[in-house]
Amino acid sequence: MLVSLTSLRRRALIFQLNRRFKMNSLSLSADTSPFHKGEKIVQSKAGEVESGNRNGTVISNQIIPGAIPFIAQQSMIVVSHIDPTGNVWASVLFGKPGFIKAINRSLIELDSSIIVSHTDDSFWGNIDINPTIGLLIIELSTRRRLRINGKIEKIDNYRYQIMVEQTYPNCPKYIQRRNLSLDTDNNRSLLPKVESGNQLKPDQAQLIANADSFFVASACQLLESNASATDFSSPFTADASHRGGFPGFVEVKGNRLRIPDYPGNSMFNTLGNIEMYPHAGLVFIDFDNSKLIQVSGSAKILWDEEDLTNQSDGTQRFWELYIERWQETPIPASISWQFFDYSPHNPRSNKAESNNTETLTLQVSKVVEETKAIKTFTLVSNDHGILPAIEAGSHLPIVLTLPSGKQIERHYSIISSSDENRFYKIAVQKQSRSRGGSEFIHNQLVAGSLLSAKAPKNAFPLGNHSGCTLLVAGGIGITPILSMIQTLKSRNRPFEVHYVAKTQQDMAFYEKVKKIAQGRAYFYFSKEPSSPKLDVVALMKSATENTHLYVCGPTKLINAIRDTGNILDWNPEKIHFESFGTNNKDNKTFQVNLTKTNAVITVKPQESILDVLIKKKINVAYDCKRGECGMCAVDIIKGDVEHRDFYLSKSEQNAQMCICVSRAKDSKLVLAI
Ligand code: FES
Repeated sequence: MLVSLTSLRRRALIFQLNRRFKMNSLSLSADTSPFHKGEKIVQSKAGEVESGNRNGTVISNQIIPGAIPFIAQQSMIVVSHIDPTGNVWASVLFGKPGFIKAINRSLIELDSSIIVSHTDDSFWGNIDINPTIGLLIIELSTRRRLRINGKIEKIDNYRYQIMVEQTYPNCPKYIQRRNLSLDTDNNRSLLPKVESGNQLKPDQAQLIANADSFFVASACQLLESNASATDFSSPFTADASHRGGFPGFVEVKGNRLRIPDYPGNSMFNTLGNIEMYPHAGLVFIDFDNSKLIQVSGSAKILWDEEDLTNQSDGTQRFWELYIERWQETPIPASISWQFFDYSPHNPRSNKAESNNTETLTLQVSKVVEETKAIKTFTLVSNDHGILPAIEAGSHLPIVLTLPSGKQIERHYSIISSSDENRFYKIAVQKQSRSRGGSEFIHNQLVAGSLLSAKAPKNAFPLGNHSGCTLLVAGGIGITPILSMIQTLKSRNRPFEVHYVAKTQQDMAFYEKVKKIAQGRAYFYFSKEPSSPKLDVVALMKSATENTHLYVCGPTKLINAIRDTGNILDWNPEKIHFESFGTNNKDNKTFQVNLTKTNAVITVKPQESILDVLIKKKINVAYDCKRGECGMCAVDIIKGDVEHRDFYLSKSEQNAQMCICVSRAKDSKLVLAI
């Protein structure tokens, strides 16, 4: 939507906006919170002030060094922008890698000469009038994303620069993995026209109702509390964000969309903006028909909604968009997508599964000692009824009350077949430095014991691929793999199992795996000189092109497979992993000097740096606590790190570490905390 202003007036307006924004930044300088009033109101209403503040520590006006190469590799970004009537829009821009890049930690450059998106996207006109944008740099295939908010300015015919105001890497929850292929020889001048309208068309409504993902743009005016939507002399901040769930998570009623607000990072950037400035723009990608459906209108938050089918995953929080205007923007057919899998975090929301939020009371019906360190527990419902359904890879969250009275939650893979609904079997390895969970289970649980559990979840689902499935297990990592072997066999699908343990005595379920896999299982004993050793390179080299590999075991094994995959150019979407961490018996005590807090902490073998910081009430951001989301990544000032995460790339690990899992190699570390 273009408005005819002379270039002189535009420049004056942009100058005024930027100057005002600087003044605004100064006026906020006494308040060190990275959140504006709307975000704080929503955090408070949601009861998440503490976690919001904790996670807000990742917000900075400097891009993390490790993200700089990530930005330059991307072919897709999402931008939020504001039109002359004050409506907020989201656009998706595609371009040759390098079309977006960081000049330094505070400045991003956008090169429109190598963008392949439609030239008539309203983004280009809107930024001429209002330079405030939100930027989401997202790689769907790896679920990595980086948020940047700032002001954009045209510096020559093709290039734009964005001054970073706020940035942080986001957690990867609810992102469905897709691979984007881009043929950059495309001629975008041949694309059909951008269409627009007010009333949603039936095919658009259907696309939205079946969507598993969309992006949302929101904005907030910062200075004048009662500024009108068309008063651009008041500075804005804008945000672009991702939303995802299983198809059907967006409810469409005429021009009204209702969206559940799942548990997130507690910062509430989108809802905080809507609280202050009730407008939003959504963009849905029609992956099959190469177009974007962009909708914009008024938005409002719905608190404490009745949610009998658990659509909101327990928050009872929804938000609504009333569509006032839509745009349908073609994207080049040379952009193609390959869907890979749904996020394991997507809440299930149908009625049949709503019972899954209940606490289960289970009774131990049998205990079997599989090896010296591993016991199998068969669990039945206390009322001997049917148990909630599971899938291969599911785990059972068990809530234990230790003799000290402390309650802890531990997750164990379910090894029984997904066809079995009368009992679950879990295998528990007694940790040499147990923090209470495995020791309690081994020593206290006997046939007849009762325990509480939450409904099973699946963070390591087995996909429905056409090719062969390679299953690799290390030690106790056999547990989810065991349920996968049973499922693959019952579905008559091709698979091979490669199972590593120290010795045959340490290998649980050796006979069982051998029997089910029938000639398709290979065993390796790392401490037995006569045993063959697992050759990851040879295994992955010999795999056929459409093979998928599932690995569960210690960090070292998973990293060996991921690194080999990189070297052999495996599609990362075909490597699925679940970590059981590193055996902490080799962990040593070390000290960490925290430069920002001006404190020194001691980290004992059985705890992580993050554990100690939480105990000491030192605010740091975190989410997964498994080295998978990157939320807890911090800058390393000095010291050698043993990286155990699955988030940071090799080059990023030179500058940062994930403090939930990674440790010092020596006795000391200095970190920017
Ligand atoms: S909290 Fe997710 S990587 Fe550390």
